[in-house]
Amino acid sequence: MRIVHVLGTRPNFVKMAPLIAAITRRMPDADQAIVHTGQHYDRLMSEIFFEQLGVPAPDYMLEVGSGTHAQQTARVMERLEPLLVENRPDLVVVPGDVNSTVAAALTAVKLEIPVAHLESGLRSYDRTMPEEINRIVTDQISDILYVHSEEALRNLELEGIPAERAHFVGNTMIDSLVALQDRFQPLQSCREFGLEPGTYLLVTLHRPALVDSPLLFEAVAALNQVSEVMPVLFPVHPRTRARLAGNAELSENLHLVDPAGYLEFLSLEADAGAVLTDSGGIQEETTYLGIPCFTLRDNTERPVTIELGTNILLGLDPARIAEIPGIIAGRDPEASSDPPPLWDGRAADRIADLLAD
Ligand code: UD1
Ligand code: UDP
Repeated sequence: MRIVHVLGTRPNFVKMAPLIAAITRRMPDADQAIVHTGQHYDRLMSEIFFEQLGVPAPDYMLEVGSGTHAQQTARVMERLEPLLVENRPDLVVVPGDVNSTVAAALTAVKLEIPVAHLESGLRSYDRTMPEEINRIVTDQISDILYVHSEEALRNLELEGIPAERAHFVGNTMIDSLVALQDRFQPLQSCREFGLEPGTYLLVTLHRPALVDSPLLFEAVAALNQVSEVMPVLFPVHPRTRARLAGNAELSENLHLVDPAGYLEFLSLEADAGAVLTDSGGIQEETTYLGIPCFTLRDNTERPVTIELGTNILLGLDPARIAEIPGIIAGRDPEASSDPPPLWDGRAADRIADLLAD
């Protein structure tokens, strides 16, 4: 069996690493090739994930880089097509919801190559999010859909996608976290920034709805306010860095730093007093780790994280950031919940078993 995995962004690497490893273990004769689209390219957004997750170096680099949605999508399609024609794989695997995902799925399906979509069925029901369009299109045209939560299965059913295409396998992003638990738990990466475990607010913000609007500066003002009672550590995504550059006043206890390596970021999450984010993956990781998460968005495609009580949807309303210290002070420190079903570190093995069968 010849399998081509197409990856392009930071969260893609985290989701795909366990699957590539599980297929290698379960189907040693399978011929796997990794295509890196180059959507993310800074060392701290790309290479470090391959190293820390033990993913083999990509077989092909498409080097599409940054651009508008149409440019990025078109470049992936143009550069991937000849490669798929030449290799003629039995399956193309695409993760998540980024531009590289939909571009690769469209390219493969038009060559009549079967496509498997990892992390299928998530819906925010907000079509102003580019990711929502990418998810809907990718799910409609993929042949095999790997799903990580029961709501995702229901979303696919509501869109009339035949049940036999969808497989509830669990969450490979949590597989990566579980696999590296022994390595990140002892790190205490917060100490590198002079912070004590359990005391700080960890922040990531990168969604266009927030960072490409004046709301970003309202968020920084609110973080300055929070930092008077709770230090704030903000590893800044390159999209956000470009917008902030020299334009924001920062208090002494608001630390803006480079994006963290994956192991370091997991350590920062696990030791955080709370996390403020608009990331998809971070809502899931904090749920698994039992760390209070505040999501600065109007909606989430991951409602299971809200139902379990670890994640609070603040709305796209930076003023509400100021409420965070009070909310965490009022929380029951003993409160805990089990992770969602099948978020157990074995999702990739289930997929490899299905593929082998
Ligand atoms: C993309 C995904 C988003 C995902 C996020 C994960 C789409 C539409 N968006 O958003 O769903 O949550 O990745 O992090 O696919 N840049 C760099 N260096 C890099 C990468 C990007 O400087 O290595 C800068 C460039 O200025 C670029 C900007 O970041 O224009 C945005 O990058 P892009 O890949 O277009 O979107 P993200 O915001 O990263
Ligand atoms: N992450 C990281 N360093 C950082 C921020 C995030 O390693 O500085 C990891 C995080 O642990 C998670 C993934 O990147 O596994 C989430 O990626 P991101 O938030 O960029 O994308 P999203 O999940 O929103 O698509």
